Amino acid sequence: MSDKLSALDGQVQKGMRVLDFGSGPSEDVYEYVRYFEANYYALDNSRQVQMLLEEKGIRCIDLAFLKSTDMKFDIIFMSSVFHELLSYLSRNEAANTMNVVLSHLSENGKLIIRDWCAPEDKTLARVEVIPKKIEEVKQWIKELSEHAIFLSEVVVKGNTIQASVDDLYNILLHVTWGQQSILRESNESYLVDSASIKQFILNGNQNIKLVSQRAYYQSDYTNYLSNYFKDVEIFVKQYHICTKQVLVLQKA
Ligand SMILES: C[S@@+](CC[C@H](N)C(=O)[O-])C[C@H]1O[C@@H](n2cnc3c(N)ncnc32)[C@H](O)[C@@H]1O
Repeated sequence: MSDKLSALDGQVQKGMRVLDFGSGPSEDVYEYVRYFEANYYALDNSRQVQMLLEEKGIRCIDLAFLKSTDMKFDIIFMSSVFHELLSYLSRNEAANTMNVVLSHLSENGKLIIRDWCAPEDKTLARVEVIPKKIEEVKQWIKELSEHAIFLSEVVVKGNTIQASVDDLYNILLHVTWGQQSILRESNESYLVDSASIKQFILNGNQNIKLVSQRAYYQSDYTNYLSNYFKDVEIFVKQYHICTKQVLVLQKA
């Protein structure tokens, strides 16, 4: 089972309504949900994604449709979407989107969020870049800086980057996408911290409870990271770096 689908492990039951919010074009969740004889709904605001899904015979709704219906869902799955809401939308737009999502959960319904993590560590640390990759890494740092992704100063001296663990987290995980993704991904912060979860999901919503939270490091990242950084495993271990978290929230 893929890492993405394992976030749904044990959750889907026959007859449930499952909304895949920010579904992307893949049919993996669709097939998984149908396997359990549950009902799948995709939602994505990208016209391209909507068309790709329609070509596969999967109907894709948008936020306007969701707002117009009183349909409730037993599970709303948001895989790698929450950090995009935080990165691309204003505070009010992100709050409004999450309020719409929460209002469409049925009683005892679950919101399952799978996304990046956040070390939540302001300690200054250093990472050494493999010399032949330094120009590429510097390009990422420049773009991330221009998009106001960093929380504190990032200093590059020779092949060494000195920054807070949180900022290094953003640099390390962005770089693994490769140079061709700089323009797209440098718009996004990968820090999904407890403050944003409180602010946009829990805060003021007394009927939403955090049922479980699991953060983990996906070991295949070591291969990607080692192409760019020296002794990356030491950094990952020392600062307890996680590449994903799965949050399960339930409506009372
Ligand atoms: C990184 S992709 C994740 C796709 C899929 N959930 C996965 O994990 O493979 C994020 C998706 O969320 C969609 N998205 C981003 N912001 C959205 C919003 N405000 N409303 C609906 N969809 C959104 C994007 O179009 C994109 O398809």
